[in-house]
Amino acid sequence: MPTKLIAKLSQETKHVVVFTGAGVSAESGIPTFRDALTGLWERFEPAQLATAEAFREDPNLCWGWYEWRRRKVLQTQPNEAHLAIAELAKHAPKLTVVTQNVDDLHERAGSKGVIHLHGSLHSPRCIDCGNAHEAPLPSVELSEDGGRLEPPRCNAFNGYIRPGVVWFGEVLPEAPWSAGIAAAESCDLLFSIGTSGLVYPAAEIPLRALGAGATVVHVNPVRFEISSQEYFIHGPATALQMLIKVAFG
Ligand code: APR
Repeated sequence: MPTKLIAKLSQETKHVVVFTGAGVSAESGIPTFRDALTGLWERFEPAQLATAEAFREDPNLCWGWYEWRRRKVLQTQPNEAHLAIAELAKHAPKLTVVTQNVDDLHERAGSKGVIHLHGSLHSPRCIDCGNAHEAPLPSVELSEDGGRLEPPRCNAFNGYIRPGVVWFGEVLPEAPWSAGIAAAESCDLLFSIGTSGLVYPAAEIPLRALGAGATVVHVNPVRFEISSQEYFIHGPATALQMLIKVAFG
C-alpha cells in the first residue's frame, strides 16, 4: 500500500467520497453488468430489459427480470467491502457514499446517506402518474432463472408499476446527481471501487474529483490506465479492508 496514500487517508483527508459500481456487490453473489460470461449484459439484452420502450413493449418480461434481481438482493448479504466502507466512515472526518448500484447492500452494511445515482430496486412507482408504490410487492413464485411476471397496477390510475431504477436513455434524478457532483467537487480523496467507468454521466464523478484536485484511488481486479494524480489498488473491493487496517490499525 503506497505510504503517501496511507498518510493521506489517516492524517490529511477532510472529506472522503466512496464511489461504487457493480463490482462492490460481486462478492455478495450479485452479477455485475459487463464481466465476461457472468455479467448480466452477457446473458440479457439491456435494450430488451432496461429501457422504457422495452417495458411498454413487454412489461411482463421486464418486471419478471427486475423482480428476479430484487429477490436475489433480498437473499444476499453485504460483503466485507460494504462493511469496510461503513467502517471507514467511523474514521474519516466526513465520508459520502455515491453509488451506481440499485441494491441496498451499502445501507444494510451500515452506511448512512448513500446517494443512489441510478435509483433503487426497492422504490417501484407508477409508470404513468409517477406515484410511489408503497404496497408490499406480491411474492408470486418465480423460477430461479427468472421468468415473466405481470407488474402490479397503480391504485390511482391503474397504470403499470415500474422498477424505481434509471433505465438507459433516461435522465438521472436531479437531487442525487447534484448531491453526487457536489460531494465529488468538495472531497480531497475519492475511492472508485468496482466500476468499469463506462456509463455516463455517473462515470464523471471521479473526473470531477480529479478536476477539483482530489486524490483518486481505483480498486478493481482488472487493471486500466490511470494518471499520475491517481492510485490503483489491483484487486477485489474487499482489498479496501486491508487499507483501512494499515491506515487506522
Ligand atoms: N471487486 C471489485 N471490482 C470488481 C469485482 C470485485 N470483486 N468483480 C468485478 N469487478 C469490476 C469489473 O472489473 C468491472 O470493472 O467491477 C466492474 C463492473 O463493471 P460493470 O459491470 O460495467 O458495472 P458498473 O460500472 O457498475 O456499470 C455502470 O451500467 O449497466 C449500467 O446502470 C447500470 O449502474 C450500472 C452502470
